[in-house]
Amino acid sequence: MANVTIIGAQWGDEGKGKVVDWLASRADIVVRFQGGHNAGHTLVVGNQTYKLSLLPSGVVNGKLGIIGNGVVVDPHALLAEIERVSAQGLKVTPETLRIAENAPLILPLHAALDSAREAARGDRKIGTTGRGIGPAYEDKVARRAIRVCDLAEPDTLAAKLDELLLHHNTLLAGLGAATFDKDSLLAELLRLAPRLLPYAEPVWERLAQAKAKGKKILFEGAQAVMLDVDHGTYPFVTSSNTVASTAGSGSGMGPDAAGRVLGIAKAYCTRVGAGPFPTELDDETGRLLGERGHEFGTVTGRKRRCGWFDAALVRQAVKVGGIQGLALTKLDVLDGFKELKLCTGYTINGEAYSYLPAAMGAQARARPVYESLEGWSGSTRGARSWADLPAAAIKYVKRIEELVEAPVTLLSTSPERDDTILMQDPFAS
Ligand code: IMP
Repeated sequence: MANVTIIGAQWGDEGKGKVVDWLASRADIVVRFQGGHNAGHTLVVGNQTYKLSLLPSGVVNGKLGIIGNGVVVDPHALLAEIERVSAQGLKVTPETLRIAENAPLILPLHAALDSAREAARGDRKIGTTGRGIGPAYEDKVARRAIRVCDLAEPDTLAAKLDELLLHHNTLLAGLGAATFDKDSLLAELLRLAPRLLPYAEPVWERLAQAKAKGKKILFEGAQAVMLDVDHGTYPFVTSSNTVASTAGSGSGMGPDAAGRVLGIAKAYCTRVGAGPFPTELDDETGRLLGERGHEFGTVTGRKRRCGWFDAALVRQAVKVGGIQGLALTKLDVLDGFKELKLCTGYTINGEAYSYLPAAMGAQARARPVYESLEGWSGSTRGARSWADLPAAAIKYVKRIEELVEAPVTLLSTSPERDDTILMQDPFAS
């Protein structure tokens, strides 16, 4: 199996962009299979910084990028992103980007509903990115979504808009938000159609051909296992399945599509948005992690919450996500800390747990059980070989491997593409 799937093993923002970019240089095709423009990948190549949201990271390497049916596509966001990266010198054309014809669209009404509902939740907010992701996935499973292929059929589009607006305008009006007008929405979509349709095709067919030819396919996950709609910290999650098994269903390939599964985890832990975070540090150490790690969201610019590495959580992500190897990022952010802590499990109402149970109340009450490790005084920044690392840093990584029950196969020591220590090439295994 020549394929590799990358997924986040915590709550997102693990530094997937760099690892995906690095692996994309070894792949033939890069596929997005879930999520939408709620994702944000920052790629640093030489003196250029690329901020990608919806485009598969392969576009930076000139590789064929595919947006699968499991992704929710905001046409405005996509076209704006294409324009932005083209201005930076990247080439995004129907030769280098294909979009599943059966991918659902995110329309302006989805973002409006997302925001109106968050406002109505008051202090019980989920802290969504406000991009309309949840409402768009709701429409997909409710069988009323407008899909990319509908743009080629004005009559279908008009009829589907009637059904969609009946639902959304009722909700928006109930929430006291502005409603949408069918004629202007239809005109807007028909105006965008000629710009989007050249990218559309049955991508499952292209992927089947690629598989037959033994091409190397990289599946680029967005968000992370703990934000998975089934396995994450529900309801503080995103609205798609982020686990590796979605690679097949979200692109139109069979269950063996995922191939080798690499999970990405930061050497500590962060989260944006609301929801449980047992190892969160509301103190000077947490502040320092945020400052050193530049922990601000790529998409919304929100400050990320920071805490110690939660090995119990990552062990859970390894099991439910199908992770076979772990890429550990931002180890250099821990340089200089005298003491480091790893969470090995939780106590909830006085009882010991080795995992985070599903119930919302239990998750909120979970208190971390820590193991302390000695920090290191030397620098790991920019290390490119195991031998460049201080002994205590090696010990920290080895202990993580034991606790999460998965090997660390890749270590990233700075945002630069080449500052990476590779223990195992996932495409070679
Ligand atoms: P939504 O995906 O916009 O509905 O947001 C649901 C939750 O997922 C919120 O807590 C967001 O902050 C979080 N989320 C969505 N996308 C990302 C991401 O790419 N990185 C980190 N958190 C994310």
